Amino acid sequence: MQITLDTKPFATLETEALVTYVFDESDPIQGRAAELDKLTGGLLARLAKGGEIAGKSLETTLVHAPQGVKAARLLVVGAGKREQFNPATLRKVAGAALRYLKSRGVHKVVFLVREGDATEDVAQAVTEAAIVSDFETDKYKTDKKNDKFIEIFTIAGYADAEKAAGEKGLGKGRIIGDSQNFTRDLVNEPSNKLTPRILAEKAQAMAKEAGLAVEILDEKKIAELKMGALLSVAQGSVEPPRMIVITYTPANLKPGATVVGLVGKAVTFDTGGISIKPADGMEKMKYDMAGGATMIGIMRAIAALKPSVKVICVVPATENMPGGKAQKPGDIHTAMSGKTIEVLNTDAEGRLILADGVHYAKQLGATHLVDAATLTGAIVVALANVNVGVFGSDRAWTDKLLASAKAAGEKMWELPMDDEYREFIKGSFADIQNIGSGKGGGSITGAWFIREFAGDTPWIHLDIAGTAWNDDAKPWLAKGPTGVSLRTLVHLVMSL
Ligand code: BES
Ligand code: MN
Ligand code: ZN
Repeated sequence: MQITLDTKPFATLETEALVTYVFDESDPIQGRAAELDKLTGGLLARLAKGGEIAGKSLETTLVHAPQGVKAARLLVVGAGKREQFNPATLRKVAGAALRYLKSRGVHKVVFLVREGDATEDVAQAVTEAAIVSDFETDKYKTDKKNDKFIEIFTIAGYADAEKAAGEKGLGKGRIIGDSQNFTRDLVNEPSNKLTPRILAEKAQAMAKEAGLAVEILDEKKIAELKMGALLSVAQGSVEPPRMIVITYTPANLKPGATVVGLVGKAVTFDTGGISIKPADGMEKMKYDMAGGATMIGIMRAIAALKPSVKVICVVPATENMPGGKAQKPGDIHTAMSGKTIEVLNTDAEGRLILADGVHYAKQLGATHLVDAATLTGAIVVALANVNVGVFGSDRAWTDKLLASAKAAGEKMWELPMDDEYREFIKGSFADIQNIGSGKGGGSITGAWFIREFAGDTPWIHLDIAGTAWNDDAKPWLAKGPTGVSLRTLVHLVMSL
């Protein structure tokens, strides 16, 4: 898909479909919609009067062969209440329009932004929305409908004086949207096509192409470094683990500057191990590497956007399998940090591999940490598939993240980290145990476990178990991997 910005008067743009959006208000035909109404001889006002255009959220009204414009079709999308309109709504509007038109065999689209929306941020949001909504999970389908694709997506409604800002946003949006889809491609892969070794190879190939430093630690190196927590999970699998390390260093690195450590859980398949999961729905555990894939995708974006801080990405990758060599409940291991861990449930494996990931990121020089993980089913109970769960140890660092989530249009919700919860994972036979002692708060005890390894370093944990995978397609997004939290973390790193 080619994305361009065109400042020519929108009435003169030859295209298969011209898209705009209207609000849910007593007269939805105002501003740019009124301009369009005038050109088309009062068409929109008539449709509004008849109730066909009401501006209701994601309502779509398609008109063929409209008069007064060069477009073959006009698509009006409802944007909901004007007071509630924000860049996140606009993303849904643009994404829904693209998917609606794509499914009808339209190849060329012009997306007309409204009066007041011709900014850098809007061009970025619309570009990201277009790229992210265009993603399909049909890689392994042999009966694909190859005629359904968007060839050219043009953003219009910008004056010549606004062009430079628009194009800047478009450029950023392209990098971020493509990176989000890169992540989603990884998450979409089934575990037979994406083992820890294959994930490491793909990360390495991306890093080399993007000009990033990369190091892949194999099982020997992992053992040498005494990453006992990662090894405890990996020991049950025939597939060896990998620790993926990708580093971005800015051109003029100042001594003492912030170094961001991004740590992502990459369990390429989670059977639960000896504490095995039920068969129903187990196939979904191929997405248990979404946290790692997100961090790798972020590095891809960062390489192009060139923030002023150093970023170290650490992704522990392994399978979690049962078998004769698998760890068993009650086993005690020593993590890389030296802390001992009693494994009470082998299905709480994400926090084990993150323990070594977080410790290693600190050892490599990270001053500020973020981890992302499909960590707990409990976060689905708390926040469903709507919000990412946020846990933090440092007010200022967490506030920065929450502000970035807002700017990037991703829903995130902070949960408490009171000291009382820490008691839940105090060990009976080792320093700590890998599950809480049956008092609820499963997502919080999971977070506290990881925090034990972050120590005093400002740290944030994102539990994306409920949000990294879309069970049902949305008008603006395909079913399957979402790539959630990539945009927020790119924004965070760019804002430092
Ligand atoms: N990968 C799962 C968490 C998960 C659940 C991800 C649902 C996506 C959807 C994680 O490794 C896990 O199994 N967590 C356990 C922890 C428990 C044993 C303390 C869980 O949530 O049941
Ligand atoms: Mn598990
Ligand atoms: Zn898991």
